[in-house]
Amino acid sequence: MTDRRVAVVTGAARGIGAATVAALVTAGWSVLAVDIAADDPAIPYHLAGPDDLDSVVAAAGDPDRVAGYVADVRHLTAVESAVAEAEERWGGVDAAIACAGAIVGGIPLQDLPLEAEQAVLDINLGGTLKLARASIPAMLRRPEPRAGRFIAVASAAATRGLPLLGAYCAAKAGVAGLVRSLGTELGPSGITANAVSPGSTGGAMLAESARLYGLSAQELFAMQQPIGRLLAPAEIAAVIAFLASAGSGGITGTVVPVDGGLAL
Ligand SMILES: NC(=O)c1ccc[n+]([C@@H]2O[C@H](COP(=O)([O-])OP(=O)(O)OC[C@H]3O[C@@H](n4cnc5c(N)ncnc54)[C@H](O)[C@@H]3O)[C@@H](O)[C@H]2O)c1
Repeated sequence: MTDRRVAVVTGAARGIGAATVAALVTAGWSVLAVDIAADDPAIPYHLAGPDDLDSVVAAAGDPDRVAGYVADVRHLTAVESAVAEAEERWGGVDAAIACAGAIVGGIPLQDLPLEAEQAVLDINLGGTLKLARASIPAMLRRPEPRAGRFIAVASAAATRGLPLLGAYCAAKAGVAGLVRSLGTELGPSGITANAVSPGSTGGAMLAESARLYGLSAQELFAMQQPIGRLLAPAEIAAVIAFLASAGSGGITGTVVPVDGGLAL
């Protein structure tokens, strides 16, 4: 295994995705950092912007090994173009990591505007499916023996029934189902498929979750996690980086909780 493995990371402009870019760069990877880098009319809070994506690339400190790429994970052609860009720049793709996500809710499901429900399904689940569809052929183009890695970010919401977040819970449960299926489908190809399930992790999405539940601060979510604090994006990224490593080849089709015990 060389130290020039190549990853495509979506949702890379901030939060868990940005921390994943940093962790992979530290581990010697070349990384295409993909993000929509714009707000979305169906999502009632700010997504990352172009400056956030530029900052992630600048923080990596090596323009030859990290590049930003603007794409909306809902559009297959855009995701395919991102994967092609990584292959062209660095000669192939060894890992695809779906961190892009958005949350809506805070009201009963029947009152949630249809376009918000559709957006949350399309970004969290559809975007993960599209990254798999675009990246698995690229990972299969690597010569054997392979160590390809498809990694998705699910959520404690994949297994817990969180009120007023039905569409988000459904999307994240779908992500867990997807990696279970891919784990069996990819079989002996040398490509594994796994997910991590973060608990409450500090940042913009958790701030929005607090607002949806009428809480005054995201720190209040800490009390529901046995470790008694919020997780940091770097703690999720460290597990993603392990799952991306060659040493994780015995793990496939599973969802790894990184949730401070939230699911217990
Ligand atoms: N923060 C938490 O407590 C928590 C808990 C469980 C799971 N998660 C999941 O972790 C992932 C990352 O969350 P985060 O906390 O870093 O949130 P975040 O909002 O900080 O980051 C999400 C990123 O995805 C990008 N994005 C959104 N829609 C996109 C689209 N259509 N195409 C491309 N990029 C898009 C945003 O611009 C942003 O940079 C998400 O999938 C989220 O559901 C977060």
